[in-house]
Amino acid sequence: DTLKAELLAVALEAADRAGALLRDGRPADLGVAATKTSSIDVVTEMDIAAEKLITGFLAERRPEDGLLGEEGASSEGTSGVRWVIDPIDGTVNYLYGLPSWAVSIAAELDGEAVVGVVAAPMRGETYRAVLGEGAYEGDRRLSVRPAPGLDQALIGTGFGYLTARRAAQAEVLRSLLPQVRDIRRGGSAAIDLCDVACGRLDGYYERGLNPWDYAAGALIAREAGALTGGRPGEPVSPELTVAAPPVLFETLQGRLEELGAWQG
Ligand code: IPD
Repeated sequence: DTLKAELLAVALEAADRAGALLRDGRPADLGVAATKTSSIDVVTEMDIAAEKLITGFLAERRPEDGLLGEEGASSEGTSGVRWVIDPIDGTVNYLYGLPSWAVSIAAELDGEAVVGVVAAPMRGETYRAVLGEGAYEGDRRLSVRPAPGLDQALIGTGFGYLTARRAAQAEVLRSLLPQVRDIRRGGSAAIDLCDVACGRLDGYYERGLNPWDYAAGALIAREAGALTGGRPGEPVSPELTVAAPPVLFETLQGRLEELGAWQG
C-alpha cells in the first residue's frame, strides 16, 4: 500500500545517505567518542554523526513518527509508525576497516515491522523488504537456500560485549561447533540475517541482540522465506534471535534450547 511504499522510499534514502557518509567520511585514525558496556564496545564519532543524519532526515520527512536508535534517539510519535535505527551495525568491523558493517533501518507500524532496509556500502549491496511483498537486493528477489541437516549447516552467530555473557556464549559454541558444518562470526547481526535471506548462511542465532540490530534484518530474512524466533514458541527478542529456513529452523532452535543458548 502507499504508506509502506512511502516508508520504504524514506528508509532507502536515509540508509543511502548515512552509508555514503560512513563510507566516504571514515577517518584513517577513527576517533573514539565514548565507550559503553566495555572497552570493546566502541562508539565512534561516525556512529553518532550517522544517527543524527538519519534522525534529522526522518524528522524532516516523517515528523509525526517515533524513533528508537542505538545512539540514543527515542521518541513516541503520534502516527503509529516507529523507526528502529542502527546507524552502524558492525561497529568493530567499521573501526578496524573490515567491510561487513551496515546501516540498519526498520519501520514498525503499530509495533510490527513492515519495512526493513540494511545497506552494506562496502559490499555494494542494499537489502530491503516490505511485509508481505518479499525481500530484494537490487532487482534480485532473495530466497533462503534449501537447508541441509544441522550437521551440514553453515551457521552464523555473534557475541555480546559483556564478559560473563561471552563466557556463556563460548560454552554453547563449544557444544555446537562439532555438530555443524562450520560457524561464521561476521560481526554484523543485520548482515548475518540478510545472509540467511540470500542463502549465504544456512542459519543464524545470537543471544542478547538489541531491537535495532535485528528489526530490519529479521523482516528481510522472513520475507526471503526464513522462519525467525527466539526460544521455542517465542518471537525474536533480545533474549534470543534464531533465523533459518523452515526445514532447519526447529532443529536449530531445539538444539539451542538444549544448550541453554538464551542464558548468560
Ligand atoms: C553488534 C553486531 C554484532 C553482534 C553484537 C552487536 P553493533 O552491533 O551486530 O554482530 O554480535 O551483539 O551488538 O554494536 O555493531 O551495532
